[in-house]
Amino acid sequence: MRQFETGWTIFAATVILVASGTPAFAQEWTWPDHPENLQVLPENWTGQRLRPVMTGFTRALGVRCSHCHVGDDGQPLSTYDFASDDNPNKERARTMLKMLGDINQTLKTLEPSGPERVNMWCHTCHRGRPRPMTLGEELGEVYHARGLETALDHYEALRDRFYGRGAYDFGEDALNSLGYSLMAKDDFDGAVRVFLLNVEQSPESGNVYDSLAEAYMNRGDRQLAIEYYERSLELDPENDNAREQLKALAAGEH
Ligand code: HEC
Ligand code: HEC
Repeated sequence: MRQFETGWTIFAATVILVASGTPAFAQEWTWPDHPENLQVLPENWTGQRLRPVMTGFTRALGVRCSHCHVGDDGQPLSTYDFASDDNPNKERARTMLKMLGDINQTLKTLEPSGPERVNMWCHTCHRGRPRPMTLGEELGEVYHARGLETALDHYEALRDRFYGRGAYDFGEDALNSLGYSLMAKDDFDGAVRVFLLNVEQSPESGNVYDSLAEAYMNRGDRQLAIEYYERSLELDPENDNAREQLKALAAGEH
């Protein structure tokens, strides 16, 4: 659990600041000397030993204490019931701790190919998010639950927050597959919107222009289809699909 040690002081200071900014009647909270309900971590750990682990959890998942504990965000920590198991995320986190233990046990059976063994941590998967999904999976989930508009807003929000942090791959594939799942449902307007956004994000990729051209073709916009297949070929002269489609369009087959 050593990775949690670095930087925890800053976090602890934040916790204290939050607690001290509360009304005078709120009791100041301190880490318990003897935690009463440790089931996975060593039972005899003190609160001081627990502190870097808990603050590490919040950073690994990008959440506050209330994500896993019973208590309201913004309320003093003295009003929380940390020993309670009523928040289902606490049990999920216990399962994760055990899983991580198993993974690291398994990794120990490998002879590492580099100078040192690579361990896994909570943040190896989570990278600042409570539910670690690929960008494609996450956009698909939002799209199916709440529609295209929300999915595109979500894309922008994720890009603003996570771009360059390694949590998501903002390469062309995520929007490309979202666009194709719309196309599969004959939502060509939706697909065009998604592919236009992708072209904006990856203007040097022949593949994204090819997808956009296909959506225009399916929508019946022949001229635009030709324009974008040509653009795709310019960027990627080996795109045989674009060449074929252009021939077919010229012959009036589409
Ligand atoms: C990702 C989930 C998660 C987050 C976030 C989290 N905790 Fe925990 N916490 C746990 C789990 C799981 C346990 C119990 C570990 C066990 O059973 O070994 C625990 C136990 C505790 C305990 C011991 C309670 C007792 O008496 O048994 C305290 C105190 C605690 N957490 C404080 C905090 C504080 C303060 C924060 C915010 C800075 C925090 N935790 C954030 C999951 C979390
Ligand atoms: C091997 C990858 C991996 C590792 C390592 C990992 N997690 Fe997870 N975690 C996941 C996945 C995947 C989910 C989503 C499960 C789902 O909702 O289907 C998840 C979900 C969770 C959740 C539920 C969050 C929510 O809002 O639904 C908690 C809490 C959690 N993890 C805590 C932890 C903690 C704490 C650690 C380190 C001890 C950890 N995880 C390590 C992959 C991982």
